[in-house]
Amino acid sequence: MIDLRSDTVTKPSQAMREAMLSAPVGDDVYGDDPSANALEERVAALFGFEAGLFTPTGSLANQLAIRQLVKPGEELITETFSHIVRAELGAGAAFSGITTRTWEAPRGLLKASDPLRIARPDSGPYQVSTVAIAVENTHNFGGGTVQSIDEIRTLRTESQKLGLTMHLDGARIWNAHVASGISFLEYGKYFDTVSVCFSKGLGAPVGSMMLSNKERTSSARVWRKRYGAGMRQIGMLAAAANFALDNNIARLEEDHRHAQSLASAVHAVVPTVVNPADVETNIVVLDLSGAYVTAPEINAQLKAAGVLASPLGPTTLRLVTHLDVSAEQIAQVNTILPGLVASAFKA
Ligand SMILES: Cc1ncc(COP(=O)(O)O)c(C=O)c1O
Repeated sequence: MIDLRSDTVTKPSQAMREAMLSAPVGDDVYGDDPSANALEERVAALFGFEAGLFTPTGSLANQLAIRQLVKPGEELITETFSHIVRAELGAGAAFSGITTRTWEAPRGLLKASDPLRIARPDSGPYQVSTVAIAVENTHNFGGGTVQSIDEIRTLRTESQKLGLTMHLDGARIWNAHVASGISFLEYGKYFDTVSVCFSKGLGAPVGSMMLSNKERTSSARVWRKRYGAGMRQIGMLAAAANFALDNNIARLEEDHRHAQSLASAVHAVVPTVVNPADVETNIVVLDLSGAYVTAPEINAQLKAAGVLASPLGPTTLRLVTHLDVSAEQIAQVNTILPGLVASAFKA
């Protein structure tokens, strides 16, 4: 099977496993794990923050961050298809009493004017007050799109005037950096909290991190324990993340090329399904509107031919490239997928 369901399916390489085996460890709840402590310092410095907190998942890193910015009954605004509101199962409401409102943006692309249009800070006793904005970069369901740094800058300047804070869901900020050439420090500069993941394109088996100032990170450490995610000898997991940072960032460019190749092959048979110019990183979203078969049906046909993808709805199919998919496998997918798409549009 060629598995293009997600970049979360990657398995740790032999070299990563060896780095994990030899990692110094200690009890992290006591603050004694040298590998976790070093990783938190490393990633915080990379993005220009005072402190970092290792978490088992990106969802937890997001949730710990937003509960630092938003009090119960207050409002976080974000894009309609962002992971925080679509795929974290209402965690912000369930655990932190956070209410959300969303703006919709084609391909998830941020325009500063969208959040600024719907933000309602200091709404007094009759309406909920907006206090924070979350931005996802790259935007997963938007098709791995890279957010414009100019829009981020403008949003930061204008939202600060309104007293709002900003959170970055940077699960795939590594891909954004490789595609745009913009430094992690620059990306970090415009946000109060950031989450990053090591377990997606970077290929670690587990691990994410929340970044912020010392005060918010200490508070998040208490909440992480309260949520039952205070962990012990996590140095082995930190070593995997550390290995991923050393070895697996620059190679993301290869995943981006593979995604381009898939998009171009499909575009060549049915141009409306995907525009290769819209594929900026490692995620290809196929728009099957107007086809005679649904995305789940094409997905089943692909599966029968040895390729796994993810239907995101009745007319949307997502393919994600990653470090466990070779150029040969992409070439093989290109002998199968375009034909299936072409047939899907024939009456
Ligand atoms: C943009 C984005 N943020 C956060 C997450 C959450 O990561 P996890 O699955 O580790 O909770 C994901 C997972 O796919 C994601 O795509």
